Amino acid sequence: MLFIGLMSGTSADGIDGVLIELMDNGLRIFATRSMDYSPGVKESIESIIRRYPNVDDGEIEHLDEALGVDFARTAEELIQAAGPGTAVSAIGSHGQTIYHGPGDEPPVTLQVGGPQVIADLTGVTTVGNFRANDLRTGGQGAPLAPAFHNAVFRDREVDRLIVNIGGIANLTSLPADRTRPVLGFDTGPGNTLMDQWCRVWTGLRYDIDGSWAARGELPRELVDALLADPYFSAPAPKSTGREYFHLDWMKKRYPRWRDIDPVDLQAGLLEVTALSIAQAAAGIYGTHSYEIYIGGGGAHNAALMSRLEMLAPAGVDTTDALGLSPDWVEACAFAWLAHRRIHNLPGNLPGVTGASREVLLGEIYTPTA
Ligand SMILES: Nc1ncnc2c1ncn2[C@@H]1O[C@H](COP(=O)(O)OP(=O)(O)OP(=O)(O)O)[C@@H](O)[C@H]1O
Ligand SMILES: [Mg+2]
Repeated sequence: MLFIGLMSGTSADGIDGVLIELMDNGLRIFATRSMDYSPGVKESIESIIRRYPNVDDGEIEHLDEALGVDFARTAEELIQAAGPGTAVSAIGSHGQTIYHGPGDEPPVTLQVGGPQVIADLTGVTTVGNFRANDLRTGGQGAPLAPAFHNAVFRDREVDRLIVNIGGIANLTSLPADRTRPVLGFDTGPGNTLMDQWCRVWTGLRYDIDGSWAARGELPRELVDALLADPYFSAPAPKSTGREYFHLDWMKKRYPRWRDIDPVDLQAGLLEVTALSIAQAAAGIYGTHSYEIYIGGGGAHNAALMSRLEMLAPAGVDTTDALGLSPDWVEACAFAWLAHRRIHNLPGNLPGVTGASREVLLGEIYTPTA
């Protein structure tokens, strides 16, 4: 059974897509694609995120359609790459998060990316809007990847942690003992603060390999002030986004930020990501030995990886060591969630999201053309 997973992450750095075969004992990747957005789409995403909720419905609809076309293009390329006659059962498309406010009254989460457009242009049934049902059941609607991590990465002998470092970082604990619950939550910022600061001072989209941060000297006071934010010590379930962790958040928590050399500040932001992950890990496993695997773009940040290695008791690997490249884990999760949905199997872990029960995740869009 072949499924496509499509993802446009909080970093809005492009679309990731995978075409995979799901088997009883795991999955096999047939094709992968990373695609840029069409001209203007990235700017529109960033502008709408910045102004939300002060945005016209029409503007959101326009982006929804344009992103749907880009997602469909990615899916078409995957189908072509897999060869003629490839029959895809369904596409799972996460979409692009514009706003995530699970704590708002009423709770809100908004993803755009035209699942109906994708279904119509590809002719393949598409599952989208994955977070809504969990949110409606009292959950955070996030993170959703832990259920997938549980399905493919859990071991019977060793306790494991899977950490996805995208714009935001999220962690999943997979105890070897199957009677113990899987835990999962957003630990806080992943790359987003580092990316934003790096863009301001170097013009680069991100700090390649963390080389700029590696040259900085740690501003200890800033790190302490940022880590004192109550988000980090709040109990799970919890999830967050760019609307919470942005540069103004940093400036507010540490008003003397101008006194710090930009390169040192970058080192500080890297330290906040590393320490918040390490503290979350210690909160779960204490000093027990466990394996830790990193996925997401943060796995390519050499400086961040080496800092995490210092913090982890038994070393750090990327998900490559588990047979799945860190670049494709999230997209694979949404292919897997599409499979769950079309087979009417629940997709959430209530113990992770805080939902009152297991629910089907996603709405099914069938091609109308
Ligand atoms: N070579 C690299 N060096 C440093 N950082 C990198 C490198 N490659 C990728 N990254 C970081 O990874 C980020 C993209 O990661 P990813 O696509 O996992 O995040 P995302 O799109 O926010 O995903 P999600 O929200 O699904 O977790 C980039 O913005 C950058 O910060
Ligand atoms: Mg991305």
